[in-house]
Amino acid sequence: MLKQFLGHLDYEEAYMKKHKFPAIAGHKRLHDDYRASVEKFKQEFEHPTSKGVHLNKSREDLMIRTDEFLTNWLSEHILTEDHKYAAYIKKHSK
Ligand SMILES: [Fe+2]
Repeated sequence: MLKQFLGHLDYEEAYMKKHKFPAIAGHKRLHDDYRASVEKFKQEFEHPTSKGVHLNKSREDLMIRTDEFLTNWLSEHILTEDHKYAAYIKKHSK
């Protein structure tokens, strides 16, 4: 599902470019920040370190933090940033 969503970000960027959305650079930067965060979580999953904490507890915490980040980012981004380009394209594509 995450892979599909990351593919969706690419689609959005192509769509904004096609419709010449003026704030595409800022929007793409948000996507890039998101991609970097996803990669960071991925690295944490693939290379867990206990750091004195029980590994299962650490992994559970990581799963919760990842889930919260992905859910919050997605809802916030769709409601604010994606809404901006959708409104622009709707207004200028008539
Ligand atoms: Fe977006």
